[in-house]
Parts: sequence; C-alpha cells; structure tokens
Amino acid sequence: MKDLRDWISLLEQEGELVRVSAEVDPHLEVTEIVGRTIRAGGPALLFEKPKGSQHPLLINQFGTERRMCLAFGVDSLDDVAAKLADVLEMQPPEGIAAKVRGLKTLKSIADSRPKTVRSGACQEVVLTGDDVDLSLLPVQTCWPHDAAPFITLPAVITHDPRNGNRNVGMYRLQVLGPRSTAMHWQIHKDGRADYLFSDGKLAVAVALGLDPISAYSASAPLPKHIDELMVAGFLRGEPVELVKGVSVDIEVPAHAEIVLEGYVEQGDVTSEGPFGDHTGFYTPAELFPVFHVTAMTMRRDAIYPSIVVGKPPQEDAWLGKATERIFLPAVKMTVPEIVDYDLPVAGAFHNLTIVSIRKAFPGHARKVMHAIWGLGMLSLTKGIVVVDEHVDVHDYEQVMFYVGANVDPKRDILISEGPTDHLDHAPTLQFFGGKIGIDATAKSPAEGAREWPEELEMTAEVKALVDRRWAEYGIASAPVAGNAEIGQSSRRLLRR
Ligand SMILES: Cc1cc2nc3c(=O)[nH]c(=O)nc-3n(C[C@H](O)[C@H](O)[C@H](O)COP(=O)(O)O)c2cc1C
Repeated sequence: MKDLRDWISLLEQEGELVRVSAEVDPHLEVTEIVGRTIRAGGPALLFEKPKGSQHPLLINQFGTERRMCLAFGVDSLDDVAAKLADVLEMQPPEGIAAKVRGLKTLKSIADSRPKTVRSGACQEVVLTGDDVDLSLLPVQTCWPHDAAPFITLPAVITHDPRNGNRNVGMYRLQVLGPRSTAMHWQIHKDGRADYLFSDGKLAVAVALGLDPISAYSASAPLPKHIDELMVAGFLRGEPVELVKGVSVDIEVPAHAEIVLEGYVEQGDVTSEGPFGDHTGFYTPAELFPVFHVTAMTMRRDAIYPSIVVGKPPQEDAWLGKATERIFLPAVKMTVPEIVDYDLPVAGAFHNLTIVSIRKAFPGHARKVMHAIWGLGMLSLTKGIVVVDEHVDVHDYEQVMFYVGANVDPKRDILISEGPTDHLDHAPTLQFFGGKIGIDATAKSPAEGAREWPEELEMTAEVKALVDRRWAEYGIASAPVAGNAEIGQSSRRLLRR
C-alpha cells in the first residue's frame, strides 16, 4: 500500500470501514462515538463531514487485531516479527541455498531505504506564510478538560544535528493558533534529543495521513540511529517515497495527505496540556517547545487522520500490541533466555510486563528483571512478573495462578527503583520511582526454597483417550483440550 487511500480502499473491501455522512463535531463528539465503536470491536470510521472543516476525518483504522494484520498484510503479528528475526539472526550462510536466501534478505534490506522522488501528491496544495491555517483541519478536542484541540496521529520528522540521522516519532501537537502548535517530546524520546542537540533552530516536518505501516513506524521504539522510514520500507516490501519540503531542508513522505513544515527553537517553550492521556488520566500542563509552521501542504481533498487515547482499551492498544510482537526477536537477541512477553493493555503498556524465561540457574529471574529495566523503552516498566517457559504469558489466569502458587513475597519480590514513564502520575517524583519484580518461577533449594513439589499434569495417554472418546460422553459444550480456550485472556480483554 503506497498511501492512506490504498489503505482506506482495502478497509472498505474487507468490510472494515464505515463512512459517516452525518455532520459530527470533532469537539468531544467523535471521542464518544469512537469509544463506543472500539468497545464493540467495531470498524474504522471515516467522518465525511466533521463540523467546521472541509476535510474528512479517519479514525479507528488500527482498532482491532484483524485491521492491524491487514495493515501489515499478515495473518498474525508474529509473522511480522519472524520477518525481522530473519534479519537479526542472519548467520554466515552454508551451502548454495542458504547463500541465495541470505542474499535475498540483504537485497530486501538494501531496497528498503527511502527513495527521493521529484514531486509528490502531498504538495498538490501549498500554503505558506500567513496562508497557513491549522483551523482548516478537523483537529479533535478529545476530552472535556483538554487544553485545546490536539493533533494526535502525526509522524514528526527531524534530523540529528550531529550526524544528520533522521528520526520519525509520534508526538502529539497541541494547536496553539493558526500557525503554531506545542511539540510534546517526552524526556526519553529521540525527537527531544535532536532538539536538545540543536544550538538554535531545528527544522521539523510533520506528516499526517500515511500508509498504515509508515504511520505505525512513527510509534515504534527503534534505537535512535535506526531510520523508522527504512524499517517501514522493509516491512512494506517497497521503499517509502520522499519529496523535498517546500520551506525546510527535510524530505517528507510524498504520498502523505497533509504535511506541516516549520521549526522549533531553543528557549521557545509554552505550556502544553492538560491532555486526556493513555494513562486514563489528564496529564497536567508542562513546558514544551513551540512548533512554528512555515508551510502547510496537502493533497486535494486531504483526509485528516486522528486517534483517541484514554482509559484502555483504546485504538492505540493494537499499535502497542504490534510493537510488543514485532520487537520480541530484538528483545530475545539481547536477553536470549526470554521465551515470550506480554504488556497487558490494561496496564497501559509501561505499567506491567509479564515475561517467561528458560530458567537455568539460581537468581535467573532477577537477572532478567534487571535486563528488562535496562532495555530501551521497556526500562520504564514499573512491574515485572517472571514465569517459567511453559506458562502462557498472554493467559492472565495462568499467570495469576503461578503468582499465587509460586511466590513467597518475602523471598521472591524485588523492589528496585529507576526511570519511570514521563506521563506516570503515581511515582513521588516525576521521571523516577519504584519498581517491583515478582519471581513466579519454580524455585530451587539454592534460592532458599524447600524441595519444590511436583506440578499436577494429566498423562498424555489419558488426554488422548479422552479426546478420542469425547463424543461418547455427550458433554458437547465443554472444551475438548483442557484449558486451551482460556489461554486467550489478553485477546478477550481487547475484543470486548
Ligand atoms: C497514539 C500515540 C500517541 C503518542 N504520543 C506521544 C507524545 O505525545 N509524546 C511522546 O513523547 N510520545 C508519544 N507516543 C509514543 C512515541 O510515539 C513512541 O515512544 C515512539 O517510539 C517515539 O519515537 P522515538 O523513539 O523516535 O522517540 C505516542 C504513541 C502513540 C501510539
């Protein structure tokens, strides 16, 4: 898919999009409609007549697992992870077949770099200077006490002033006036680092309305030196096309619906917020840089993309789940004893991590806790539950069983401290607070436990016998294979 329009066509073909022709107010009304739609597992919505704007508003494009898989063109998000794992785990090939496969993988990486083109649909309409007017867009005021309308689904592009490396991040923009917004670069984010390394003005471009993989990539917590648009090209299987900005020295996605170009400047900050956040609370007002918009370019009839965050589950649940799945191979590269992990949506992603490990030595669970508290954005997680490899981390009932059954709180709880999420209101200090690790693995005497008892398990022979004879018993409604149906509690939670 090269752009948002291809994506909208696919959603329509798949019965995953509803066009709303009634006039609807981007001030609060859209939020309430989308909230109800998400809780019902409903479709993407294209509001054709947002009140006060000529531009349709697309929302809930990422709101279900099925749509997220459609976006990536896969049956399961683990398939995306497998594609990345192939690259991460590349070994010197042995034999002709392995060499050919290796070369193909290398070529697909080389072909993923963004490609510069001479012109782009995103510049069909060009507004500069006093003609720039953000009030043309149907920007949502999402929650009753939000300070202003907020642009919530942007891809913000900057370059590291030290080496020119590109960064693309999803950072909300509070509309301050027709030609300026606040730039919500949180303290741990790469966009903010580019800003801090600049010694005067920093050029910024904001792309709105991209193909779904490029839009997703802006939210992906990639290491600073990795170009999100290159990863988007790799996952799309075709490079992202870029065109020169009209007023800044930044290349912008040629097929974007809307592009805002401009700059931020050292010392030029404003009060940003309150904003109804993904924590389920309002984040209070804080100082953030002002983004001055020098040009606004658009496609004719540009479609404006939006998203609402709030008490989970919301649309961003599946952006987060995509990240959880896609980054599993990278997490395993660093901490190979990790089998799987789950960031519960209800824990707003940073609050809780459940991780299963192949335990090999005393204290292993604690080693993994420390590793996670040192790993990229996972370092911000407040609570970690470690279980043994046979436990399904996505099955919260199972995890709760082992937390209840295997934990001696005096022996198995690690209290630590470290950096916390910028938006977390619970720690006594902003940015720094307590951490809890719960070791719910089976313990050995070397860890101070008594002889560990044997866990209940039916024999394979009896299970096979009951499977074979099930029809004879006449208990049609019960699940055939033990607890298999229960093992999807995280999915159930999302689908409510
Ligand atoms: C819908 C949505 C909105 C987000 N808003 C912000 C935001 O306002 N500020 C921020 O720092 N991160 C925000 N994030 C998280 C960042 O996009 C994410 O951490 C990303 O990895 C940042 O890119 P970076 O690693 O290049 O800094 C948001 C994520 C999503 C899915």
